Amino acid sequence: MSGTLLGVADDDRAKHERVRDAYDAVASDYDRALADELNGKPLDRKLLEAFVELVVEGTIADVGCGPGHVTRFLAGLHDDVIGIDLSAVMIDVAKEHAPDLEFQVASMLDLPVRNGAWAGAVTFYSVIHFHDGQRAGAWRELARAIRPGGWLLVAFHVDSADHQAGEINHVTEWSGRVVDLDGHFLDPVNVIGELELAGFSVVAQVDRAPNPSVEYPSRRCYVLVQRRP
Ligand SMILES: C[S@@+](CC[C@H](N)C(=O)[O-])C[C@H]1O[C@@H](n2cnc3c(N)ncnc32)[C@H](O)[C@@H]1O
Repeated sequence: MSGTLLGVADDDRAKHERVRDAYDAVASDYDRALADELNGKPLDRKLLEAFVELVVEGTIADVGCGPGHVTRFLAGLHDDVIGIDLSAVMIDVAKEHAPDLEFQVASMLDLPVRNGAWAGAVTFYSVIHFHDGQRAGAWRELARAIRPGGWLLVAFHVDSADHQAGEINHVTEWSGRVVDLDGHFLDPVNVIGELELAGFSVVAQVDRAPNPSVEYPSRRCYVLVQRRP
């Protein structure tokens, strides 16, 4: 992790470390499972293509990039792309796939960039482990990193057969590894309110049904927002 997260409460720091440890442990399995997932997700591809068209030029960051499959897709459409993730093992996997792309280990709660450095950012399923206060901090940090008029595309899980929006799925085992992870199902109304409070204006919201043949069977939401001047 790049920053020291000064001022962050001990509980939050410990939670942050548990998330990092979990993704370090499952990085290879996660990569094997999801490396080609965009092939089966035409709607995601079209949203990412529209996003790149809106950004036009400047740096696009894939924040919480995991093994970098979305980063690689973006890099096929845009020549200035960076992937950022809390897990150093995830970043190693991402670099193995794409040695020529730029990747960095950092937390989205403490991004190693100057104010307004990015023209846009995507963050797919990376805020799902935050409690409400941490998520608000992540939106503020993204609003700081994205220039006025710049773009942010967020994806998250809304609900599933077992969980309603607002509930937490506590995971203790993943791919045969012991982990300690809270996965939050989020109500789009709340996420949109948080993004507006952080300085973004909502441009589009896409809700879609689960696609169990290629992904965890949850209802998904994508929110496209623009940084207010
Ligand atoms: C569910 S995975 C999503 C990965 C990828 N974006 C995708 O769509 O498959 C969540 C990712 O967010 C990363 N992550 C979690 N908390 C983070 C933080 N505070 N800063 C940066 N990355 C974080 C994890 O390490 C993990 O790679």
